Amino acid sequence: MISDTYRYRDGSLYCEEVALDDIARKAGTPCYVYSATAIRERYRAYDRAFGSRRRLVCYAVKANSNLSVLRLLAEEGAGFDIVSGGELYRVLAAGARADRVVFSGAGKTREEIDYGLASGVQCFNCESWDELVLIDSLAARLGKRPRVAFRVNPDVDAETHRHISTGTKINKFGIDIDQAREVYAEAAKFQNVSVEGVSCHIGSQIFNTEKMFEAAARVAALARELRASGIAIGHLDLGGGLGVAYEGTEQAPAVEAFVQELCRRLPDDGIALQLEPGRSIVADAGVMLTRVLYRKDTPSKRFMIVDASMAELIRPVLYEAHHEILPVRQAPERGTVVADVVGPVCESGDFLAQDREMANAMPRDLLAVCTAGAYGFVQASNYNSRPRPAEVLVEGSAWRVVRERETVEDLVRGER
Ligand code: LLP
Repeated sequence: MISDTYRYRDGSLYCEEVALDDIARKAGTPCYVYSATAIRERYRAYDRAFGSRRRLVCYAVKANSNLSVLRLLAEEGAGFDIVSGGELYRVLAAGARADRVVFSGAGKTREEIDYGLASGVQCFNCESWDELVLIDSLAARLGKRPRVAFRVNPDVDAETHRHISTGTKINKFGIDIDQAREVYAEAAKFQNVSVEGVSCHIGSQIFNTEKMFEAAARVAALARELRASGIAIGHLDLGGGLGVAYEGTEQAPAVEAFVQELCRRLPDDGIALQLEPGRSIVADAGVMLTRVLYRKDTPSKRFMIVDASMAELIRPVLYEAHHEILPVRQAPERGTVVADVVGPVCESGDFLAQDREMANAMPRDLLAVCTAGAYGFVQASNYNSRPRPAEVLVEGSAWRVVRERETVEDLVRGER
C-alpha cells in the first residue's frame, strides 16, 4: 500500500508532509501513526455519497478509539457506533453529541444501559429479547423512553474470515430474521421504549458488496412489513463491514460507489439510513513503525527480529492478516530478501509477516507496517509486560503524540 497519504520523497517515507523517520526518532518505536487528513476524507466520502438522503454515518469506535481520532470525527459531524460503557465515555470525552451515538453490542450490562440512558444516546441496537426487557425496566426507573432498534441477523454469509463473519444463523449476533416479525409485534407493546429501527451487521473486511446489498434488501423488506403492520420504523442501520486493500494487488470496494449503489437499491421511502463503518475510515490512514533489532538466518529460515510484536499488532496471527511492510528509507541497491518478520514475544505466533519478500533491511532500520490504522492499537495488549506503544496524529506538516507510550509503572498500576 502506498496511498496518497503515505509517499516516498527522495527515498524517505512520509505521512502527509512529515517524514516517518523524524517521528520515530522523537516518539520512539514501536509507534502508531495516523493521518488526520486521510480520516477526514474517508468520513466525508461516506457522508457525501448519500447526497440528499437522510442519513447518519456512525463511525465504529472499536476500530480506533483514540480520543484525538474521535474528536476530529466529531468535528466533522460524524455519529458514533459504540459497544461498551468505555466507548461511550470516550466519545463523550471527545465532544460527541450523545444524540448521534448508537449503542450496539450483544452483552450490554445493566450499568452500561443506565449510562446510555442517562447520556441520552440516539438508539440502543438491541440484540436479544432479555436485553429489551432490561432496557424497558431501567428506562421506566429513570423516566425515559429511549429509541430502540433490533439487530436482525439476516442469515447472509459475508464471505470473510470466520472470526469476523457475524450474519449467519450460527452466529451469536442479533435476532433471527424469521422470528423478527413476532419479536417486533411484542416489543411494540412495551411502554418505556420506542421501537423504531431495524439494524444489521453481517461482518467485517467484506469485499463482496453483493452480500451487503443482499442483507440490506432483507432488512429493508422487513422494515416495510413492520411499517405496514403499524410499527413506525424511522431508520435502517446497515452496519459496517466494507473491506480495505491490505495487499497492493487487491482492489477494495470504493466507498462512494458502495454507498451510491446502496441508495439506488433502497428507494427513498423517508426512512433514514445509517451505517457503522470502522475499518474503511481509519485502516489506510495508519501505519505502525518498528525498528529492526537483529537478523538471524537458520538453515531453513531468515528472520527479521523487530521491536514490535503480536502484542502491538495481533491481526497477522489472529486473522491470518497480511500487512504490507515497507522500509522507511529505501535502499534499492540492497535488493530484497524473503524473511519472517517476528517480534520479541515468546510465542511462535508472534509474527508480523511470514515468508515475505521484502526490503533487505538491516538492524536499526525502520519499517512501516501498513494499513494499521484499524484494529491495531485498540487490540494491543501488555502481554510479556510490554508497555503499549505511543500513538501519533499527523496533519499537514504538524504532528503530535496523541497517546503517550506506556511506562513500566503503568504496567503495575493497580496491582498489589
Ligand atoms: N458495527 C458493528 C455492530 C460491528 O460489530 C462492527 C465490527 C462494525 C460496525 C464495524 O465494522 P468495520 O466497518 O470496521 O468492518 N478485529 C477485527 C475486526 C472486528 C470487527 C468487529 N465488528 C479485525 O482486526 O479484522
